[in-house]
Amino acid sequence: MNPTLVQRAQQVLCANDRGGYTIPTAGLYPFQWNWDASVCALGWMQFDEPRAWLEIQTLFSGLWTERDYGGGSAGLLAHITFHQPADSYFPGPDEWGTQALALRTSSISQPPLHATMVRWMLERAQDRAAAESAVRGLLPGLLAHHRWWYRTRDPEGSGLVRILHPWETGMDNSPAWDAPLARVPATTRAYRRRDLDHVDASMRPPQSFYDRVVYLMDANREAGFDPQHMLEAGRFQVNDIGIVCILQRASRDLAVLAARFGDEAAAAEMQGQVQRTQRAVAALWSDRWQQPVSRDALTGELLDQPTSAGLLSAYAGFGFDIAPAVRAGLDETAYGVASTRRSAPTYDAPRYWRGPVWQHINLLISQGLAEQGQAVLAERIRENSRRLFERSGFHEYYHPETGSGLGGRDFSWTAATYLHWLAGQAI
Ligand code: GLC
Repeated sequence: MNPTLVQRAQQVLCANDRGGYTIPTAGLYPFQWNWDASVCALGWMQFDEPRAWLEIQTLFSGLWTERDYGGGSAGLLAHITFHQPADSYFPGPDEWGTQALALRTSSISQPPLHATMVRWMLERAQDRAAAESAVRGLLPGLLAHHRWWYRTRDPEGSGLVRILHPWETGMDNSPAWDAPLARVPATTRAYRRRDLDHVDASMRPPQSFYDRVVYLMDANREAGFDPQHMLEAGRFQVNDIGIVCILQRASRDLAVLAARFGDEAAAAEMQGQVQRTQRAVAALWSDRWQQPVSRDALTGELLDQPTSAGLLSAYAGFGFDIAPAVRAGLDETAYGVASTRRSAPTYDAPRYWRGPVWQHINLLISQGLAEQGQAVLAERIRENSRRLFERSGFHEYYHPETGSGLGGRDFSWTAATYLHWLAGQAI
């Protein structure tokens, strides 16, 4: 543990605290983001437990209910919750067309880490009574959200949920989306990006990407946020291996939490979903890369790209042997698991999700490997991450070869990952 870094990490979270929620970084991301919030809560847990629980409670205050837009999307936990106005980000609240919501949000979701993070928080809480009461209060929202995924994104019960927008994956500009996104029409309406006011264009997605994500955002509004219409009209539908893994792990953890708090029926329901996904996931294995990958749900084609998303399969508990792929990837770079393998033709070291290292992804991959009995490999990832934190502090992401910090600075989930994983006692 490095006391100076611990102090700096805490300062990052405190500086990004907006009273009940933590922005990822000032300027570039001025609202509450979905999966960021759960990682931030892990960090807060190390020095302010009430604040940690509040982070997740605040996030779930934006959960869509039966009263919103006819109720079809009840249980949607949006990727952004707009608690307060800010004009430094595009697309802001007005762009999504969700003006009828009591608390404005976007209309898409993000990786559902929450049940897992809540379980980890419960296991390490010092104030047991407060933790148990917080979890009891969060359970109905967690269940509603998991049900939303299975009900609206896998209505046929195939076991593999689908996403309707690249931003839902949290790995926005991954090369895995290139082929399915190329079939999406480019918007013809005018808009102004704000990300390039904050970060150099070489580290951000290109204009052609933005023209298509704006098209997809507008399509949800035109479908009236009705899940059935969205699926019928959806021009981008992908079984994202990252979401499949994170949801699988979270549903296992949610089953444990539900059982512990007396809801055996919900526990059995989640276990049923977990079993269905376990049977279906073999279809996503890539012989070429020796790891699972995403699939285009409209064409059935594998999106055969070696991204870090598939390396979350140990964390999911799927049982694939991904250790050789992880080892090969680590041998190619100096600083941890690259978001896209360096040996892939699509690798682009500094550009969003096409090369850089994200520290919370390293944490999840390492945790999964440790649980699979791969302690040496898990520790190698953790050591790489430690060197990155010590070399470059708390950036949004890092260059996998040089270790230099990229993207936003003083980044919340990076600081939180440090506090949980390297300064705290990981479980
Ligand atoms: C970017 C990332 C996404 C993250 C958000 C806020 O959009 O791709 O995963 O949630 O920034 O940090």
